[in-house]
Amino acid sequence: MKISFAKPGVPESGTVVVMAGEGGKLCPAAETLDSRTEGALARAAKAARFKGARGSTVTLLAPAGTGLDRILLLGLGAPRDLNDLAWQDAGGHVCAALAVNGPSTVSVIVESPAGCKMAPAEAAAHFACGARLRGFRFDKYMTRQDDDGKPTLAALRILVEAPGEARTTFAPLDKVVDGVVLTRNLVSEPANVLYPESLAETARRLEDLGVKVKVLDEKDMRKLGMGALLGVAQGSAHPPRLVTMDWNGVSEGKSKKAKPGKGDGPVAFVGKGVTFDSGGISIKPAAGMEDMKWDMGGAAVVIGLMAALAGRKARVHAVGVIGLVENMPSGTAQRPGDVVTTMSGQTVEVINTDAEGRLVLADALRYCQDTFKPRAMIDLATLTGAIIIGLGEHTAGLFANNDKLAKALTQAGERVGEAVWRLPMGEDYDKQIKSDIADMKNVGGRSAGSITAAQFLKRFVGDLPWAHLDIAGVTWAKADKPTVPKGGTGFGVRLLDRLVADVYETK
Ligand code: BES
Ligand code: MN
Ligand code: ZN
Repeated sequence: MKISFAKPGVPESGTVVVMAGEGGKLCPAAETLDSRTEGALARAAKAARFKGARGSTVTLLAPAGTGLDRILLLGLGAPRDLNDLAWQDAGGHVCAALAVNGPSTVSVIVESPAGCKMAPAEAAAHFACGARLRGFRFDKYMTRQDDDGKPTLAALRILVEAPGEARTTFAPLDKVVDGVVLTRNLVSEPANVLYPESLAETARRLEDLGVKVKVLDEKDMRKLGMGALLGVAQGSAHPPRLVTMDWNGVSEGKSKKAKPGKGDGPVAFVGKGVTFDSGGISIKPAAGMEDMKWDMGGAAVVIGLMAALAGRKARVHAVGVIGLVENMPSGTAQRPGDVVTTMSGQTVEVINTDAEGRLVLADALRYCQDTFKPRAMIDLATLTGAIIIGLGEHTAGLFANNDKLAKALTQAGERVGEAVWRLPMGEDYDKQIKSDIADMKNVGGRSAGSITAAQFLKRFVGDLPWAHLDIAGVTWAKADKPTVPKGGTGFGVRLLDRLVADVYETK
């Protein structure tokens, strides 16, 4: 979606979007169009029982008295609730309403109704951001789409007072959306196209944005003793990779903010990158197994986040580490009962080869700490089916050894509309992963499956502030939301970008 900003003025042709507040009260540009159409807009609104509710729309086609093809009246709801998220939703609603029914360019007159605290320029920037987010499509493999079903909307002209200001506010948001789009594209790719080597190559492209990228191959990882990650990888014809991405946007001499977490190391993000999870020898049932192409969702968020931070030149030192493997059954695959030695030296009895994400993360987390000495570390993983049972598809599971970090993540989530919910941890749960033969086993039984997975990860984290986000439920959406079309969501990119801006970025 191409976005441009210009001074207001009622267009003479094409499709125009205007707005109404609570109770259907027309904003000034809508009033103007209503009088030009001799009251047709207000009549149409009344006929459609339009009350200005958030996200509701009325369409007037080929209105007489104008040269316009279409007027779309958008409801904004209660003005006091019009924050950045509500404006993003508004952009998403307009995008959804107009995506497939004709126009390629649409003019939107953004006005904040009386009582809305947000300045029009800022509102316009968030509107644009929401439209871009909703306009995402993954249709590269659709070669036979018929013309009628094909989306037409390609550009939004946003008309607003102070378009320059809107442009300035939009610029960093635009980069964050680029990151979300990258993540969504990656989780959408099938596993025959996206495997550890090809995903590592994609991460490499971040070098164009000024990110330092390093790719470790199997030999490197063997030398480092990453027996847990390599054990998962050994059943696949695709060799594993471990990628580090280093963005240092802190200019010399600037003071560094260091909370939560001490020292001046970077903030680190670690992602599970299982490019396909068949379960391995503990093979999964056939139904729904295709979903496991997005078992690299954590790694995709880390890549998208690094792209967002570098793209908007965030004043932060941030690193990303992603462990990339394919979990397959074969004659060389690891077996239930195998014991592997992790990079940390701790041994793991692999009871179930389908609990592979934690094995990959064990070594990635350790490598991250040894290499970067981070001040804080946050991992993301589509780790457990249990988190979907517990929290469903709208909230990610949060686990942390640090209350401040947990709180900051929760607040960041609220601000960007990506909810996280903290779950407990503790010694009683840790007991569930005791092994009779090794330092631990990789599963803890049926109860509290997401918590025991987090306990497992914790054993590979030192005393630095650490948080784990279980994103198994939120990585793929079965239904549209205003700014998230169904499919890969990119959940986590906006959340962690916000966390960085709130906590780790120098002003
Ligand atoms: N990748 C899965 C978790 C998952 C399930 C993600 C559904 C997204 C949707 C993970 O590797 C896995 O298989 N976990 C097992 C763990 C069990 C064997 C302890 C699970 O949740 O069933
Ligand atoms: Mn699995
Ligand atoms: Zn998995």
